[in-house]
Amino acid sequence: MSGIWQWVVFFVCLVVENWVWAASLRLEVDGSRVESELKELRRFSDTAAPDVTRILYTQSDLDARDYLRRLFKEEGLVIREDAIGNIFARWPGKSADSPAIGTGSHCDAIPFSGMYDGTVGVVGALEAIRALKRSGFRPVRSIEILVFTSEEPTRFGIGCLGSRALTGVLKPLDLMKLLDVNNTSFDQARFAAGYTDKLENIELSESYYDGFIELHIEQGPELEKGGIDVGVVTAIAAPAQLEVTFKGDGGHAGALLMHLRNDALLAGAELAIETEKAALAKGTRDTVVTTGSFDIAPNTVNSVPRHAKLGIDVRDIDEQRRDSVLEIIISRAAEIATARRVEHSVRVLNKDSPADSAVELVRALEDSADQLNFSHQRMVSRAYHDSLFIAAKFPTAMLFIPCRDGISHRPDEYASEEAISKGVLALAHTLAKLSSAAPQEDEPDL
Ligand code: GLV
Ligand code: MN
Ligand code: MN
Repeated sequence: MSGIWQWVVFFVCLVVENWVWAASLRLEVDGSRVESELKELRRFSDTAAPDVTRILYTQSDLDARDYLRRLFKEEGLVIREDAIGNIFARWPGKSADSPAIGTGSHCDAIPFSGMYDGTVGVVGALEAIRALKRSGFRPVRSIEILVFTSEEPTRFGIGCLGSRALTGVLKPLDLMKLLDVNNTSFDQARFAAGYTDKLENIELSESYYDGFIELHIEQGPELEKGGIDVGVVTAIAAPAQLEVTFKGDGGHAGALLMHLRNDALLAGAELAIETEKAALAKGTRDTVVTTGSFDIAPNTVNSVPRHAKLGIDVRDIDEQRRDSVLEIIISRAAEIATARRVEHSVRVLNKDSPADSAVELVRALEDSADQLNFSHQRMVSRAYHDSLFIAAKFPTAMLFIPCRDGISHRPDEYASEEAISKGVLALAHTLAKLSSAAPQEDEPDL
């Protein structure tokens, strides 16, 4: 047999062996271990439990990363980190040079939030690998956990920093322009955290992943209400964020007469009300607008505010409708500024397109759920995720699990051990299937 045919036969045998293996997988997930690791992660926070606050490159973030690296090492995973702290923990497959199957999420947390957002997809991915290992499964394609840097926009005002950089949406020059509220540049912040490599080599090649699955809590009520075990995400809504500033003259709270004022806070307050009206006017539950931050200066009770900065988040599953709301908000901001005699500026921080999941991965997740006798439902993700960006480059899908009352970004965010275990099991099954696929003949090496 010629060399090429020997390889073909070898890989066909591998596929058959692994499909049979995957079909007869007997996986057991250790839910209480996942729960205790999530609780351990919660300890790395700048606010006391039950609140979690874990902002990019703070000591809490670095401690959480240390802890995760330790867990990955215990499992014998091969770890690498890029110049901005995206962590890759790989279980090498028999065909280690082929594109890998990725899974993972983030471990940063917005101020005063909960312990499940993102972390379930990281610790859950690790438990999925442990379950596969325990069952004796060996992947053909490598399985890799990716812990994304700064999914939350808390420090530099823009979310999904890691996945934007990995997919080339944010280039090194864009990263270098970022400043936090203390005027610390992104480079200064990452250097201080020990990430000193060049930014040039972050972007992943087109053939890096053959598929990517992110496990996450739903952050909405549908699964819990319907008594559904897992949600299979078919699309992720389109987020956009604006920063609007108003500048007035300020002055003494007692001495400055009302008719002479140009109060920056009142301009901002009026705009916040207008953003709500703009969303409601669309008459659909899919259009949502939030004025999530509102800073004023000098922020003292006896002074007329002379500066107001609003962070406005606009989302929709329909990009055109989302953009029309953005336009309304931008023109209202100008009208309010004129009427109130304040200066104003608008910065569009990001304006991202929605993403569709890969059909074959949606089916693979549904097949896994069926094999496990889990009820499942297709759904749209109204929150954004790193998968939004990963989906633009690699076949991607998300798996949701129910969380109590649909609550998220709050300290009382909660997902039961049972819900997490089911999600991990469905993930493990799907990873087994996807990682069993033999490389194509024309498939590029990494
Ligand atoms: C992510 O956390 C989001 O704001 O959707
Ligand atoms: Mn979040
Ligand atoms: Mn998240």
